[in-house]
Amino acid sequence: MKRITKFAVHFKCRKMKESHIFTKVTTHVLQAMKQKGEKISMLTAYDYSYARILDRAGIDVILVGDSASNVMAGHKTTLPITLDQMIYHASSVMRAVSRALVVVDLPFGTYQGNSKEALNSAIRIMKESSANAVKIEGGREILESVERILSAGIPVMGHLGLTPQSINKFGTYVVRATDTQEAHKLLDDAKLLSQAGCFAIVLEKIPSKLASQVTKAVTVPTIGIGAGANVDGQVLVLHDMLGITQEFSPRFLRRYHNMDAEIFNAVARYIDDVKSRDFPNETEQY
Ligand code: KIV
Repeated sequence: MKRITKFAVHFKCRKMKESHIFTKVTTHVLQAMKQKGEKISMLTAYDYSYARILDRAGIDVILVGDSASNVMAGHKTTLPITLDQMIYHASSVMRAVSRALVVVDLPFGTYQGNSKEALNSAIRIMKESSANAVKIEGGREILESVERILSAGIPVMGHLGLTPQSINKFGTYVVRATDTQEAHKLLDDAKLLSQAGCFAIVLEKIPSKLASQVTKAVTVPTIGIGAGANVDGQVLVLHDMLGITQEFSPRFLRRYHNMDAEIFNAVARYIDDVKSRDFPNETEQY
């Protein structure tokens, strides 16, 4: 608790009528949440308008994920998105956010196999978007990059299990670490990332029993997506949980809305109103 008091910054939410005092979420706040057993909520966002709603609703962490490559740009994988495009999305999100911690994915090809390039990529994200942290995929093989980024004072979130940037190695998006060897490697990788100083680790699409084991074995929060309930927090891709994307329906996805149908119906009504000359009416003109 002492650490929270020391590091928390109190932000007045100017937009709210009541003078609500928010505690800015920092990596130290997340650590304290793990210690208290308070679950961490995390969603993706890629633009100003959605990020503003998420922040006002009280989300703890916003991930500017490279899933923007899929849901914003329509690519089949996360591989094509560039560092410049990630910085554009992250800057848009940062203009909207007062309270949430904002984490940005380092895109494919900007950190693997070259820790100097990893540091330069992370510095560009922090400098040009003002984000709070970066996320990178992988374990032992990217440890040097993790350590180099951390040495510059940039908080790093790890990402293990199904790592979509490695889809061409895996071949499919099926559940990872179901065999003993891969499960052991994942557990070791999680310990390495935690010991290196990552402030949290995303666990994607792995058996819930393994996720629970990892969560107990590391001192930093684990954030699951398709990793069951025994983790420190949950993350979903915003467009999936809102039902904007329809074709993606894995077991772990809970849909909270059917925005595809809502938007479709609103647009269809607008088209009808324009065609029938109902819009604009007398009161909707000058
Ligand atoms: O890019 C992304 O949206 C992610 C989440 C699935 C964790 O990495």
